[in-house]
Amino acid sequence: MSDSSSSSDLRPDLDESINVQDAHGALKGDPAAGREKTVRENGMEAVSLWLVLISAIVVLAAGAVMGQGGSFFGYGELIIDGYMREPSPVPQEEPKVPIAALALFQKEGKKVYGTCVACHQDSGLGQTGQFPPLAGSEWVLGSTEALSLIIHNGVAGPIEVAGTQYNGNMSAFGANLNAKELAALMTYIRTSWGNDASIVSPSMAANALEISKKRGGAQTSAEELKKSHDKMLPGDILAPDTLLDPETWEPVAPEE
Ligand code: HEC
Repeated sequence: MSDSSSSSDLRPDLDESINVQDAHGALKGDPAAGREKTVRENGMEAVSLWLVLISAIVVLAAGAVMGQGGSFFGYGELIIDGYMREPSPVPQEEPKVPIAALALFQKEGKKVYGTCVACHQDSGLGQTGQFPPLAGSEWVLGSTEALSLIIHNGVAGPIEVAGTQYNGNMSAFGANLNAKELAALMTYIRTSWGNDASIVSPSMAANALEISKKRGGAQTSAEELKKSHDKMLPGDILAPDTLLDPETWEPVAPEE
């Protein structure tokens, strides 16, 4: 530029009457004019427009294939069937604290007693003239076989309880209890309200269910119980302070 402005020829560069290409073409052999058309220095050539277009088509096509096929970026591969996260090494649950047999059975038995409470009451005193008491009752404190039949089969007819005569009808409210529930319930009523009788173990209760099964489902009576079932249930004897696993109810070795 500074060259042209200092030149003696004051016409502008691109005069209408001059074709720049032709003018330059005429300067064949002039190194400056040659440089203007092509750069021959290796690696400095301009990229061909065709190359740019072809590359664009390849990229677009490749993108379409990846996107459509879904297999290249498929999330399915990241999901493993049946995968479970490994449990955290830190124990999440509190360790199971062994519990004394008496405490466990009282706690669980109290829940089962919910089916009895309407008649025999929270206090275990029953209702005068209608529902006999369980507190201080010889039927509760005495033979466990008789007690288990009262609960599992129900009882009807004349019955004397703690010196008072009753003549009512109790359905088989414990008919659906399993051995553990029956053991807990019997233990609960035998050790509540001042009652102080022995624990009924699940193995005793299991035998009670067997005895009841052999006998049949009919309601029992005070007379039958006195005559044929005035016995203690066979089975494991459980000391009140035996430590049990709160879930399995199996005895656990005391910790040192
Ligand atoms: C609908 C009221 C009612 C319910 C509920 C009931 N009982 Fe009774 N229960 C009676 C009556 C009435 C008698 C007396 C039956 C008779 O006169 O022969 C009785 C008698 C008894 C006896 C013998 C007498 C005594 O008082 O010791 C026991 C033990 C007993 N029930 C325990 C239970 C238990 C345990 C349950 C819960 C599983 C229960 N009962 C649910 C009404 C009920």
